Amino acid sequence: SVTRYYQLTLKKVKLSPDGFERTVWSVNGQYPAPIIRANKGDRMIINVENRFGDPAAVHWHGMLQHGTNWYDGVPGQTQCPIPNDVSFIYNFTTGDQHGTFWYHSHFMAQYADGLRGALIVHDPDDPYLKEYDYEYVITLSDWHHRTTGEILPNFISPTYTGRRPVPDSPLLSGRGRYNCNGAPDGSKCKPNAPLAVYNVKKNKKYRFRIINSAADAFFIFSIDEHKLKLIESEGIYIKPTIIEKLPINVGQRYSVIVNADQPIGKYWIRATIDKRCVLINNATINFNSSIDWNGLGILKYEGSKNDKPKSKEFVENFKICRDLDPKHLTSSTQGDGIVKAVMNNSSFIPQFNDPTITKIIRHIPPEELPKEQNSLIFDNKNGIVEIALWNNNTDEHPFHMHGHVFGVMFVGEKNEYPDEKKYNKKNPVIRDNVTVPGFGYLVIRFIADNPGIWAFHCHIEWHVELGLVLQLVELPSILMNETIPNDASSLCFKNDYQKKRNP
Ligand code: C2O
Repeated sequence: SVTRYYQLTLKKVKLSPDGFERTVWSVNGQYPAPIIRANKGDRMIINVENRFGDPAAVHWHGMLQHGTNWYDGVPGQTQCPIPNDVSFIYNFTTGDQHGTFWYHSHFMAQYADGLRGALIVHDPDDPYLKEYDYEYVITLSDWHHRTTGEILPNFISPTYTGRRPVPDSPLLSGRGRYNCNGAPDGSKCKPNAPLAVYNVKKNKKYRFRIINSAADAFFIFSIDEHKLKLIESEGIYIKPTIIEKLPINVGQRYSVIVNADQPIGKYWIRATIDKRCVLINNATINFNSSIDWNGLGILKYEGSKNDKPKSKEFVENFKICRDLDPKHLTSSTQGDGIVKAVMNNSSFIPQFNDPTITKIIRHIPPEELPKEQNSLIFDNKNGIVEIALWNNNTDEHPFHMHGHVFGVMFVGEKNEYPDEKKYNKKNPVIRDNVTVPGFGYLVIRFIADNPGIWAFHCHIEWHVELGLVLQLVELPSILMNETIPNDASSLCFKNDYQKKRNP
């Protein structure tokens, strides 16, 4: 293992990912943000230089941050935001983790404005290494032409109706194609923007790492006339299974192997926003009809002609807005329950100027944390924690946990705590991001082995802004005796917390 240094300069630039020009909260001037790569066991030293003109912070989605809770990047929970014109070094190891991760701003809805990119941890012992010749990363996102600074004040207002903002374009690896008909006067918009192209050679095999980095969109991913061999879900190898279409919710990641064994030509890669998940409550929503919900990219064989793909889409019907059937995702097992907790009723309100971690380290008893911080406190080292979520609404919610992977013991529709006999104790899916169905129940379990303050939240960014967040206060009696490194604690003295985001 080695130490890897990365420089991420956060700055606003004008870009046109789908042909429409807007201000993008970029990393090093790019969208999507550059891919960060490492091997398992590497130390990551990542200097984040904030030139946004706004506070910011970066979270490493899926990295467990063993012993480095203060580099998890969550303002209000694990750090104070990085003020403008200040640099902050994140310093953590990938440990024994490997697989497909991503990174994004965890400050307000800033990642929807651009600060999101792939984080790939390679595994020299990857059991599938011999099964593919090359690898590619595909990031999926939903793109808005308005900044979140413009969207949020309307969204979070006394007249809030529950409608989520509807994106203008789906993007596949940062590229999409807006038809410009809906572009307001005075804006810069070019139709037929270039799509992402993946070059392949006949009879070679390719690993595609697919990351849903959307603010809201549930995607269905597929490559015309090519089956997908699923091998990884969120950093966990799984028994290979062949699928045609991959449903992937916000925050989730998968790897598939694609065999370029079809006739030489061009084939559409499809990333379709399942609008049923966005519009489910809002049949009457007045969405912009110029939106194309079908994101596209191109799989291009060497030697193919310079024309449009004519390929055909696989037909497959899914239960709407659901994770891939868990029978595709068998991995290892877990033990028996000890602690039980159910998410409470209050809406999370962060205290950016006094994050929970600093309160615990000042020895404020965890029971005295503000009620609206939705704390789940557990202090039993190596105990098994069980969390059940009952979703009292038609919307699905992709829940993500920081600091852990968990076993998915039960998912279903039932308005009562499911009987333990129904749990999948034999081979639950192990992951960090799972969909709670509409009017559904989710039961997960994990081991309390990582002292820290860990967010557990719906990854629909608009729901985060509405407070659909809780925090695990894990092993506080250990955490309270830790020392936050100077660089991390000093941020809290540099901050001008009153300063709100610029629109
Ligand atoms: Cu992708 Cu709380 O994070």
